[in-house]
Amino acid sequence: MLKRISALVLAAVLTASCGSEGGTTATTGSGDDTITMGFSQVGAESGWRTANTKSVQDSAKNAGVTLKFSDAQQKQENQIKAIRSFIQQKVDIIAFSPVVESGWDTVLQEAKRANIPVILTDRAVDSADTTLYKTFLGSDFVEEGKKAGQWLVEEYKSSTDPVNVVELQGTTGSAPANDRKAGFLEVVGADPKFKIIASQTGDFTRAKGKEVMEAFLKSNPDIDVLYAHNDDMGLGAIEAIEGAGKVPGKDIKIITVDAVKDGMQALADGKINFIVECSPLLGPQLMDLAKKVLKGEQVPTRVVTEETTFTQEQAKEVLSTRQY
Ligand code: AHR
Repeated sequence: MLKRISALVLAAVLTASCGSEGGTTATTGSGDDTITMGFSQVGAESGWRTANTKSVQDSAKNAGVTLKFSDAQQKQENQIKAIRSFIQQKVDIIAFSPVVESGWDTVLQEAKRANIPVILTDRAVDSADTTLYKTFLGSDFVEEGKKAGQWLVEEYKSSTDPVNVVELQGTTGSAPANDRKAGFLEVVGADPKFKIIASQTGDFTRAKGKEVMEAFLKSNPDIDVLYAHNDDMGLGAIEAIEGAGKVPGKDIKIITVDAVKDGMQALADGKINFIVECSPLLGPQLMDLAKKVLKGEQVPTRVVTEETTFTQEQAKEVLSTRQY
């Protein structure tokens, strides 16, 4: 592991320097130093998550980073256990995508005391002490929610009738669920014709999205729009809408977030109306940041992923080249 190897390299460099007449350039670490990263993933709840896991695993391999990967199955207690185990194993660096925003201070303080730097990827924590992690790499979820709201406002700009919206939220307490809701409300809340008539979590899964949408359809006969916090819940909801004899994309307009291949296919097929992209391809940047942090280089405290949006026409154009 890096610390042990670095110590040996440093000892060798010091020995060499002592024996020479000064001017020796200290080599900090050789090219074959191995970094061991402990990575605690949220779970495997969505197509986005699968693509994210692959990106992290492939990038670690390409960057020569030894990855200890742990799947928390959407449970915070599993992530805390995994982080404690990484600390015990004395990994060089810990990265994780926190399932929910709060409740991390204790374990992050343990990592800090053990001198193991932490990088947040994809999702944020709400810790007041920002020295508990080195950087946070991921999307601006508030911005994603705003983009979803802006499309809706534009779509109904010439209508004065009420627009009944149902919302499928992501995992309760998670950063993307909190922020995508807040960003969306910030935009559509400015116009009283938009009415959020039902809002419930679908836990970012297809099965829950279907189940909750079935319940929405039973208790609300006049749904105009579905805003789903990810493609998977939107895809589950499409099954529920079709099962209720309605046409997704026409009888009920659908906005989702992510732009994974299945979502993009549904968008190109006219079943979804608009997708806000959230990129899961965080692996290469994560490995770069980890290397910089371990070399003691300055890294920005926040690295925001670049993302776009897709209409049905745009989805048709890019579908064949979509990576995930
Ligand atoms: O944190 C990113 C979100 O988590 C994705 O939008 C969703 O699909 C995933 O489960």
